[in-house]
Amino acid sequence: MNEIDRAVALLRAGDIVGFPTETVYGLGADATNPQAVARIFQAKGRPVDHPLIVHLPADDHLERWARDIPAIAWDLIEQFWPGPLTLILKRQPNVPDAVTGGQDTVGVRVPGHPMALDLLRAFGGGLAAPSANRFGCISPTTEAHVREELGDLVPLVLDGGPCQVGIESTIVDLSRGRPVVLRPGFIGDDALALVLGQSLASGSHDATLFGAPAPTVSGSLAAHYAPATPLEIVVADQLLGRVDSLLREGRVPVVLAHSVAPMAGVDWRFASGVAPQYGHDLYANLRALDAASADAILLEAPPEGIAWEAIWDRLRRAARGRSEA
Ligand code: TXA
Ligand code: MG
Repeated sequence: MNEIDRAVALLRAGDIVGFPTETVYGLGADATNPQAVARIFQAKGRPVDHPLIVHLPADDHLERWARDIPAIAWDLIEQFWPGPLTLILKRQPNVPDAVTGGQDTVGVRVPGHPMALDLLRAFGGGLAAPSANRFGCISPTTEAHVREELGDLVPLVLDGGPCQVGIESTIVDLSRGRPVVLRPGFIGDDALALVLGQSLASGSHDATLFGAPAPTVSGSLAAHYAPATPLEIVVADQLLGRVDSLLREGRVPVVLAHSVAPMAGVDWRFASGVAPQYGHDLYANLRALDAASADAILLEAPPEGIAWEAIWDRLRRAARGRSEA
């Protein structure tokens, strides 16, 4: 039996499987089976009212999961699926509450990774899958990361190599009239606006929007994607000074820079200065920095601008620390 067949057999039996997507690795279960979905929450240690994204093998599965699909949804789908875009739509009544967190909406996407598509096509239905990390921790972008996070809790993790995008999908809520970006991602507001012919509101930090309660998005909790070591974002011209002051306090920093030259005697690492590559490497870098057994992670502030928006979003959350998650 090949790995895909093994995965399908496990999923049909109500078990969970780790699998690659182009964004991050997911922890999948049959989205029609509430007991199987419950296993995801157990393995992650995630609160059960947090909704999961349903991953579909193709666009033509969408109407089994969502209803009242607006025309702009199809425009976005045509442009971006398979790919790193999740749409929030009104749900079909048969979608289990375990998947939607009891909300009237469902998150859906067709992922762009060939192995994810092979798995979904062989399974022939929707897989509910959050990122395959423990709740509040750093999303995995390799098979080895999934094993570090979840170890024996997952019977099988498919290895599709390092994830190409490296940060989670852009989430656009189309369930409430005007489109709202709930989580920025590789597909930026500029690309979305081009297809939609209108600019988008950003909703992830608002408690309420347009008078309606904002849906629960765990990726929008202030503290998320966090290493255990405290992380500070420091602008380039203050980086050396901050290293000095930590050393004077007897604390050992590890630095991730992209432009500032290294300081002798300090564990100094480099990130790309180009946004897609920075995003691709981000979580692997955060894991490696966390493993450096330093007292503090100092991260040179990346550039500003639309290409860096999703990276800034994840970094701000990482800087809030894990304790608040
Ligand atoms: O790139 C990704 O989206 C990855 C890969 C595995 O597909 N998945 C991912 O899943 O990041 P997760 O569960 O870590 O984050 C999904 C986010 C959560 O913040 C969840 O609250 C939100 O999507 N979400 C899911 N369904 C929703 C809904 N009906 N309404 C609002 N937010 C929803
Ligand atoms: Mg996640």
